[in-house]
Amino acid sequence: MTHIPLDERLIVALDVASVEEARALVDRVGEAGRFYKIGYRLAFSGGLGLARALVEEGKKVFLDLKLHDIGNTVEEGVAAITGLGVHMLTVHAYPQTMRAAVKGKGASDLAILAVTVLTSYDEADAREAGYAEDVASLVARRAAQAREIGIDGIVASAAEAARIRAIVGPATHIVTPGIRPAGSDAGDQKRILTPADAIRAGASHIVVGRPITRADDPRAAVEAILAEMAQAV
Ligand code: C5P
Repeated sequence: MTHIPLDERLIVALDVASVEEARALVDRVGEAGRFYKIGYRLAFSGGLGLARALVEEGKKVFLDLKLHDIGNTVEEGVAAITGLGVHMLTVHAYPQTMRAAVKGKGASDLAILAVTVLTSYDEADAREAGYAEDVASLVARRAAQAREIGIDGIVASAAEAARIRAIVGPATHIVTPGIRPAGSDAGDQKRILTPADAIRAGASHIVVGRPITRADDPRAAVEAILAEMAQAV
């Protein structure tokens, strides 16, 4: 893995209802926060303007839009997203979609991340969706296809990070949600790892939402997580 400063390896998920709330959170975190994730809810409530503003302020932004459509539409959509200056974008790990996204990003330095199988899917959900393959081998197949196609990173639960790292090699980002600092509330996450364990398992970046967004002091929460990560590098 190429060297990434520690504070750029922590991505704060801005899972809040409005741009105003997101802005207030970013301001409270201050200089401690270098990288923010914007998902559906915020993106579709004015969050794309916030993404642009954060980029102009020198922050990094991950747009978690999980795109999937016919190749031409994905390619043109991704090309449009490069105009926002954001740093990461998710697409579903279907080969056609991944190829189109790589084409769409062109020479820009937008990193395309592939989501292999949603972590809300278990074997029964995969079967219901028409897959005969078990989830673990589907994850492995798609990670290998992502590497082949030249995708920049994979989103994976921290629990599967080591297995994915063995497939994609050292240069690909592995971005892991489902992280809980030692001693914090798991919420609805089922398979959680601590920040240090995720880094040890090969994650290049960790995504943390509620332990920061719901903290009394979000800046202190970020600093504590960075300190936990530092133990593992
Ligand atoms: O609040 P919490 O730390 O659980 O937030 C995790 C973030 O990572 C959320 O934005 C969630 O949508 C995202 N995510 C996840 N599991 C995945 C993919 C994304 O928790 N498999």
